[in-house]
Amino acid sequence: MPGEAEILGESLPFEERIELPNWAYRRVDIEDYRASHASSVRDAAGQWERLAKELFWQRPWDKVVSEGDHPHVSKWFEGGALNLSQLALDRHVDGDRRNKLALIWEGEAIGKDGAPSEVRKFTYYDLWREVNRFAFLLKNNFGMKKGDKMAVYLPMVPEAFVVLLAAARLGVTFTVVFSGFSAEALSSRINDLGAKLLVTADGLNRRGKQVSLKDIADKALEQTRTVSQVIVVRRIDSKDTSMKAGRDYWFDDLMRGVPASARVEPEPIESEHPLYVLYTSGTTGKPKGMIHDSGGYAVLLHATMKWVFDIKDSDVYWCPADIGWVTGHSYVVFGPLIEGATAVIYEGTLDFPQPDRWWQVIERYGVSVFYTTPTATRMQMRFGEDFVRKHDRSSLRIIHSVGEPINPSAWRWLFEVVGEKRCPVGSTWWMTETGGIMVSHLPGLMLLPMKPGTNGLPIPGIDADVVDDKGEPVKHGEKGLLVIKNKWPGMPGAPTGMWGDPERYAKQYFERFASRGYFYCGDYAVKDNDGYIWVAGRADEVLKVAGHRIGTFELESSIVSHKAASEAAVVAIPDPIKGEVPIAFVVLRQGFAPSEELRKEIRLWVRSNFSPIAEPSQVYFVNKLPKTRSGKIMRRLVKAVAEGKPLGDIATLEDEASVDEVKQAYESLTVS
Ligand code: WTA
Repeated sequence: MPGEAEILGESLPFEERIELPNWAYRRVDIEDYRASHASSVRDAAGQWERLAKELFWQRPWDKVVSEGDHPHVSKWFEGGALNLSQLALDRHVDGDRRNKLALIWEGEAIGKDGAPSEVRKFTYYDLWREVNRFAFLLKNNFGMKKGDKMAVYLPMVPEAFVVLLAAARLGVTFTVVFSGFSAEALSSRINDLGAKLLVTADGLNRRGKQVSLKDIADKALEQTRTVSQVIVVRRIDSKDTSMKAGRDYWFDDLMRGVPASARVEPEPIESEHPLYVLYTSGTTGKPKGMIHDSGGYAVLLHATMKWVFDIKDSDVYWCPADIGWVTGHSYVVFGPLIEGATAVIYEGTLDFPQPDRWWQVIERYGVSVFYTTPTATRMQMRFGEDFVRKHDRSSLRIIHSVGEPINPSAWRWLFEVVGEKRCPVGSTWWMTETGGIMVSHLPGLMLLPMKPGTNGLPIPGIDADVVDDKGEPVKHGEKGLLVIKNKWPGMPGAPTGMWGDPERYAKQYFERFASRGYFYCGDYAVKDNDGYIWVAGRADEVLKVAGHRIGTFELESSIVSHKAASEAAVVAIPDPIKGEVPIAFVVLRQGFAPSEELRKEIRLWVRSNFSPIAEPSQVYFVNKLPKTRSGKIMRRLVKAVAEGKPLGDIATLEDEASVDEVKQAYESLTVS
């Protein structure tokens, strides 16, 4: 397998062991944890059942895990019924957390006095009441009921929480589409799910500017037939927002008509009922709608919130992820609220108006548990330590990162500068498909020695490993593929794992190690002698740009929808801040000549027609793309050319092409 055991050019410090001087966390020997982990895997069902009993069920389950109708999709806690909105709200409102702060929301704007212009705080009681009122509306005015589908295209506003929790209360399966995605991405997801209703906003604030969202939603709605009703949250209060009579309704106007006393009892939701479908980029054009069920998902979130984040009633928890990504679902909305935490939500960007905005937020609310990303960390490293040091971070006690590999120097910066060597710092590995964290340090359970850049060991009950092509575990320091060998609650759920596409689900995740039944994650990883796993990056054609998952094919499709482009190949090259960035090789249509303007135009085209996060950092024009006989683009070759690597290193890399073919393609690939 190609590549060195490194992350962003930094070698992996297998032998380094960093231990904390304080005794706030239980310490365990690595060997002891490995032994207890092995027994947790042997009795995984027993473990998950014990955890499930800590949640509230409206009806108990008959069986912890049973076979579903699809060979790779299990049913978790079949026969049981629960409601995630009840877990996240009613349980606390009926208990001691009724008047505890659930959410502290801060808008992006800063006033003349230097304080945020908008801060909204919700106790569990406040949030419960809003969710009841909105659920009441959905049910009575919009006729939404269990089994219906809705789409959500919202920025980070408190209403987003209200909307998702109200959907969960009724058993309406939702899909959230990232507010930075285009009309095309929105309409394709609406159509695939068959959503009846869309909740969106008039716009959003970004770096002091207002961006309209409703225009994009309107464009998407032109290409959809299923949505007949749209609810619009007023965020920028633009006079230009067009509202279609009989279809579009303002959220605040509607809510004014619902009394504070409106209640909707939480529906009993079967454990295997889909809570949501979240679309994620794969290696073909069509995004994959990953299904997450209700019961298994709730159990996994409960376990990981406890073990990974060690959530206590005294904590203030902050994960700045957007609700458009899986981290937003699991560890911004549902996980923290199920645990009764106080969560901070910040609307804007990390460097607005100054690069110390995040540290301000941490100081202002006394954030104690902080879940960040490698890209954000590398950006902040570039701004410099002073922005961090001038703010009080003494409240911080646990730091984790997610979304992409963290290079050892970024880990050290989080540990030394941000956490002042007091806080455990981890890199939690998981993906949209897994629903929750799978490989991580577990300060809530015990603390093992830390190593800069590692993900650590698999969590209890999860049999994750790094294996070679044949499925055999790799030796110390060798690169292999990350797999999960057993089943877990929260894995893609019934009925089909992937919405409407059971075959693709089986092919994508189970074909590679079919005889062993392993779940293939699509990541390269290294394992060291202590059993620590170090995920190094994607092994397939999925890009990770600033931690965001983008499919090469989707990006290429966006490029070729430009009038000048006939073919495109996109590959990722390493980037010191964003981890990796896309670059594009484009074959022009007849009548178009390469020019600087055209390069710019294509980049802008991707920004506005796909997403700003996917903009290629460079566009190269080529006469022809190198392809195998079967028509597959030789991406590694393209990448090697872009990186100026000699042919010797790459000739054997294309599985389907002969060395000669690769050589010819290499020589003919003249880039302008
Ligand atoms: C990558 C994000 C290294 C990995 C939760 C995975 C990571 C993909 C880490 C999933 C980490 C996520 N260290 N790599 N701590 N966390 N990844 O679906 O390549 O947006 O397959 O889920 O992110 O991305 P997704």
